[in-house]
Amino acid sequence: MSDLQAAAKKAVGAHVASLITDGMALGIGTGSTAAMAIEALGSRIANEGLKVKGVATSFAAERLARQHGIELTTLDEIPDLDLAFDGADEVDPDFVLIKGRGAAQTREKIVASRAKQFVVLVDESKIVDQLGHRMPLPIEVVPMAVTPIMQVVRQLGAQAEIRMGMKKDGPVVSDQGMWIVDAMFDGITEPEHVNDVLLKTPGVVDHGLFIGLATNVLVGRSDGTVQVLDRAAG
Ligand code: A5P
Repeated sequence: MSDLQAAAKKAVGAHVASLITDGMALGIGTGSTAAMAIEALGSRIANEGLKVKGVATSFAAERLARQHGIELTTLDEIPDLDLAFDGADEVDPDFVLIKGRGAAQTREKIVASRAKQFVVLVDESKIVDQLGHRMPLPIEVVPMAVTPIMQVVRQLGAQAEIRMGMKKDGPVVSDQGMWIVDAMFDGITEPEHVNDVLLKTPGVVDHGLFIGLATNVLVGRSDGTVQVLDRAAG
């Protein structure tokens, strides 16, 4: 990550932390941008005695939140959250996202779907006219169904690849014990269609297209400024 990109991520992290008020139930995102928000929120807890509870979207987010003094809870205890924050790999003009570079998209989507406000934290490089030209769409699958699911992905016009571990032989295993298929499209022209086909395919747990979930997108600029986009504003 360049210094400029780090500054942009830090700026959106600080901005979302400033929106959080006492008593809020939060969704805690995964990835390098969400980590900046976790750090900024941790500082507010330490310095101002802010009291919040958070549901983590991954083992990684859980560990980081704990390190920064954020009290953790579950959707069993608090099924309705005030605000969730998370990063994204791509954001299109309709606020549809691709997520899941870190393989956390299934829990991320569950948590985002339970939040009144879902605030997406990105730097300018993540804003695209059309999804799926640069980043693959991650699909979490039950391992025994991987080959038939890859066939379905190819019928959708994408190339399909099982995500392999780094510093581990064999496939990446998600926090749910599942595998990830990365689908490389040459642009996703119909996200709803892709969503419908994948969710109707047995063995697909979930995938990284987030449709109709983001309420706000905070775009961090390399000069440290933040542009706030509101879906309700159209
Ligand atoms: C985790 O699986 C992802 O969905 C991340 O939230 C997303 O990839 C953004 O990550 P960065 O903030 O590290 O770019």
